[in-house]
Amino acid sequence: MTDTSREGGSTSGRAAADPGADPRARVELADLRRPEAPYLRACLGLDPGHVPMWIMRQAGRYLPEYRKLKESYDFLTLSSTPELLTEVTLQPLKRFPMDAAIVFADIMTPLHSMGFDIDFAPGPVIQNPFRGPADVGSLRTPEPEEIAPYLEEGLRSLAAELPPHQALIGFSGAPFTLFCYVVEGGGSKDFMTPRSLLRAEPEAAHTLLSALADTQVHYLRMQHRAGADALMIFDSWVGLLSESEYRHFAMPFVQRILDGLADVPAPVTYFPFGGGHLLDAVSELDVDVVGIDWRTPLSEASGRLGDGKAVQGNLDPAALFATPGILEAEASEVLREGAQAGSHVFNLGHGIDRRTDPDQVARLVDFVHGWGR
Ligand code: CP3
Repeated sequence: MTDTSREGGSTSGRAAADPGADPRARVELADLRRPEAPYLRACLGLDPGHVPMWIMRQAGRYLPEYRKLKESYDFLTLSSTPELLTEVTLQPLKRFPMDAAIVFADIMTPLHSMGFDIDFAPGPVIQNPFRGPADVGSLRTPEPEEIAPYLEEGLRSLAAELPPHQALIGFSGAPFTLFCYVVEGGGSKDFMTPRSLLRAEPEAAHTLLSALADTQVHYLRMQHRAGADALMIFDSWVGLLSESEYRHFAMPFVQRILDGLADVPAPVTYFPFGGGHLLDAVSELDVDVVGIDWRTPLSEASGRLGDGKAVQGNLDPAALFATPGILEAEASEVLREGAQAGSHVFNLGHGIDRRTDPDQVARLVDFVHGWGR
């Protein structure tokens, strides 16, 4: 069921303070650069024409053309050279009729300008992790123009190249997830060091979380200014938290980002990976779309999120390794579940696995686009 009552609304942005306005109308269609794009329409709860789809990590190692480029350039070079990041972003769209492109960057991209020294091997490695009060002094909240200027240039060329029906997504990490990496110094199963620091040094932790939130505001605003039509915030590690911890250490800093985007007319998706137990709290966040992993059925997620939030997801990435018949059956189930939610953007429940056969992706995109026709 889609709500078309908001079409052709005023030109006010997210901050729309008109007390008579639909409280869900954070972004008006008239403010979008690509009002025809099905992905953007679904984000706003409007009739998209077909169920739009894109795939998390759609540009990357499962594509032979990406692996080819990786023979000549490392990840940091690919993601920090405007021409190369533009080319890589568009690679999946040349193969598959996706409804959106997501700019080729990383959630760690803006941290360099905060003073962190980051490598990819291939997961992020931070040479100078934040370990407590002694590191507060070297923490920087960069000026907006210092953050990834190459990305701004890449986004401008992408926005110029994409046709009106394909949307361009910009993104960032959420403060708690970024906190996990910069305190741990890299990946971890349980991020015990950062989760301990929250208790041992609450003030230093708060300072870091606030600086991370403020930097993401600058970073996301820059991406919208440069041409991103929609924004997404990845919270990959909140699944480690109880609801009470989430409300204390993670959620306020996500809302701090959202407040900083209040006047930015772009739909915002929030993806609390592994956060099925957090959806009651997430329902209170001022976002347009919530990404759901494969463990929570979309109808249940939507019920807990309440009216006015679209859902994105949530096919298990493992389904792409199944026979075509099983893949299509599982995709149908996601589509049926999504139809019970108010508005649905089809995606996987997490990033695509690098061993995936691109022909299976082609099959999935065809199937989703043909559904209901
Ligand atoms: O979705 C896309 O196509 C856009 C690009 C994108 C990348 N990272 C490129 C990348 C996006 C949206 C991300 C998000 C990201 N990065 C997240 C949130 C999503 C999630 O997975 O939970 C996280 C936690 C990171 C941090 C990160 N960067 C990790 C854990 C890794 C290693 C993972 C791996 O696939 O090996 C990276 C490196 C990275 N970021 C790669 C890519 C394509 C692999 C680099 C390579 O090709 O060698």
